[in-house]
Amino acid sequence: MSALKILVTGGAGFIGSSLCERLVAEGHSVLAYDSLFRGSESNLSAVQDHPHFQFMQGDVRDIDRLDDAIEHLGGVELIFHLAAVNGTKWFHEAAHSVIDVNINGTLRTLELAMAHNARYVLASSPEAFGEALQQPIQNGNDMSFTDPSLHQRHSYGASKYLDEVACQHAARDGLDVRIVRPFNAYGPRLLGDEYGQVVAMFFQAILSKEPIQLHNGGLQTRSFTWIDDIVEGFILAGLQENSLNGESLSGCALNIGATEEITIRTLQETIFSIVSSDASWENELPEVEVVDGYHGDVLRRLPDCSQAELFVGWKSITTLQQGLLRMWTSLR
Ligand SMILES: NC(=O)c1ccc[n+]([C@@H]2O[C@H](COP(=O)([O-])OP(=O)(O)OC[C@H]3O[C@@H](n4cnc5c(N)ncnc54)[C@H](O)[C@@H]3O)[C@@H](O)[C@H]2O)c1
Repeated sequence: MSALKILVTGGAGFIGSSLCERLVAEGHSVLAYDSLFRGSESNLSAVQDHPHFQFMQGDVRDIDRLDDAIEHLGGVELIFHLAAVNGTKWFHEAAHSVIDVNINGTLRTLELAMAHNARYVLASSPEAFGEALQQPIQNGNDMSFTDPSLHQRHSYGASKYLDEVACQHAARDGLDVRIVRPFNAYGPRLLGDEYGQVVAMFFQAILSKEPIQLHNGGLQTRSFTWIDDIVEGFILAGLQENSLNGESLSGCALNIGATEEITIRTLQETIFSIVSSDASWENELPEVEVVDGYHGDVLRRLPDCSQAELFVGWKSITTLQQGLLRMWTSLR
């Protein structure tokens, strides 16, 4: 495929920065656009001096700034829209901003894609299915949300649901739109602070010798997907012209996730066993505290990725054991 001009919103974030690295390595011209609300320029240190890479700080709701970004890039042929307020603690604490950034950011970037006739890839989420009563999660399942007076966690999931509605509407109007739903991506740049995500939070607790918290007994299950596999999913979904069977990919929604279903308790135990077998780590493992009453935490989140395999040939290839070991080695 010839080199493309590509805008990556949320490009300084966890997934966005790895995606930028890969796109630049494949010869594309890339502009990473990010408010730095949660991402950082240091995530982009591997590409920052590359002649085909640019970074611009800006808000994804700011159309004038987005226009500047496209001018700097010299046009745009593909938009990966990853900018969003992510991190579970924010969903409860800052529901208004989560809804504002996630929905308006998607509407503005879809309009940008339409104005330039650029292909558009949305980073959605399995949380678009809300409480996800049917498993595995696949297209056609009910998307259901609980009473917002109980908790506001679904500020995130419901915003991703509306993002998908907006994308499907744009696809119906003729824009080439693809939707990717990553399932619990993890890797060395994942944030492990109190606004972070579980794998990094567990490692962070070990490194800073603080107790690990298991919400609701740690019995909920997730599918943890190594960052390189996630990036490969975005690349295939965004850069492939058509599906492997020759049909248009516009309007497709692809689950990108490992199919190993793991309880959070098993995740914690696996991480402890990896750290214990590291002879160079002499510190004691932290205490494990069980915290109850954590709202809106779905019991299972298991993907059906058959469409990703069928349409673009994607499959997760990294086992949890391999990925956690790589992450621990890198964090050390
Ligand atoms: N990490 C996962 O497991 C996962 C799972 C499902 C979906 N996703 C989605 O994938 C995308 C990337 O996730 P991530 O894990 O890299 O999260 P992240 O928080 O690391 O990246 C999101 C980026 O968006 C930026 N951002 C936030 N508000 C912005 C604004 N108003 N304007 C411009 N930039 C803004 C942040 O600074 C951050 O760098 C997000 O859309 C997220 O919802 C991630």
